[in-house]
Amino acid sequence: MANIAVLGYGTVGSGVYEVIKRNQAIVSRNAGEEVNIKRVLDLRDFPGDPVEEVLTHDFNDILNDEDISVVVEVMGGVEPAYTFVKGCLEAGKSVCTSNKALVAAKGPELIRIAREKDINFFFEASVGGGIPIIRALNLCLTADDIEEISGILNGTTNYMMTKMADEGWEFEEALKTAQDLGYAERNPEADIDGWDACRKIAILTSLYTGKNTDYEKVYTEGITKISAKDIKYAKELGLRIKLIAESQKTEEGLVAMVAPIMLKKSHPLYNVDDVLNAVYVRGNVLGPAMFFGSGAGKLPTASAVVSDVIAAVKNKSNVMVEWDDEDLELSSVGSVKRSFFVRVSGSEAEKLPGIRELFGEVSTVTAPGVTGEFGFVTGIMSEKEFNKGYDKLDGAITRIRVDNREEL
Ligand code: HSE
Repeated sequence: MANIAVLGYGTVGSGVYEVIKRNQAIVSRNAGEEVNIKRVLDLRDFPGDPVEEVLTHDFNDILNDEDISVVVEVMGGVEPAYTFVKGCLEAGKSVCTSNKALVAAKGPELIRIAREKDINFFFEASVGGGIPIIRALNLCLTADDIEEISGILNGTTNYMMTKMADEGWEFEEALKTAQDLGYAERNPEADIDGWDACRKIAILTSLYTGKNTDYEKVYTEGITKISAKDIKYAKELGLRIKLIAESQKTEEGLVAMVAPIMLKKSHPLYNVDDVLNAVYVRGNVLGPAMFFGSGAGKLPTASAVVSDVIAAVKNKSNVMVEWDDEDLELSSVGSVKRSFFVRVSGSEAEKLPGIRELFGEVSTVTAPGVTGEFGFVTGIMSEKEFNKGYDKLDGAITRIRVDNREEL
């Protein structure tokens, strides 16, 4: 029998408890032995909840228990999670976590300790909720030179953008519902300002390059500036606005960024709606691959965590993860080539000649009920080139990147 402990009995922690209880036979069969939750750590009490039988308020009850071989960390945030996880690994216990803040900040160190101790540090649920993308990168897509990863990696914002575009919900209503459904971070600014997606693309980039991607150096824009008017223009253009986290090799080097991007209908991420996440990967020999599924929420996230528990019970020795301390050098987003949608005040007759001087040929668009302004879409150009024109554009209201590449 494998005894495990769970640090944190919040949304994901209670999901892990539920999945192990509900799928006990399957989990034990796949692990090769019975998986038993021996301890759950939380500061709170849960009167009437069966978890009370194994609940402790003292981390040392887990750290010092030699019968516990695998620890699940689902507390979130860097501290005290980091101290607890490091302590468990140093004590020879494998750790499985869903905590992307911890993995993005301390991944290489925790992976190194696990390797030295010949145990495992697994983090499948830290990116893409229930979608198996980490294991795919670590174990399956290993023959390829990965050229690009583009993903919808934040369920909260994808849910919000879908409801705002399809149901006409206001931003606050959409956020409140995403929180009620258990999708959002404790501090939802991490979702709407793009930091959650930023940490996730940094983790994926570190895994496919083998070098550490400092998430603080990833260019990040959230969805807070996207307005109902922007969505109206997008509809007129037949495009959808999605918060995209991408990492791609350009002529000038590797660029990682998070930003709202307008996608055309043929884009593989166009139809990824609600809380769903998807990751598009392009390898130099594989070509494209798509990973798609439930991106946030109690049970999908717990499903990925429990799959890690099973892997940790089965693999008593270390399963190598290539992610070194050495920092990856990121290039500026200025080198990425694409089109741009721009809203500008005034009339086409008045502004178009100047716009053509700055950006060359553009196509214009108006949106129903939006007056005193119009929109236009540029041809494909580098972001650096675009910014030169945008900085000089009189009456510029906003700009949104457009991914209208012919080939993906
Ligand atoms: N807040 C995150 C999201 C949870 O919405 O995607 C899953 O990582």
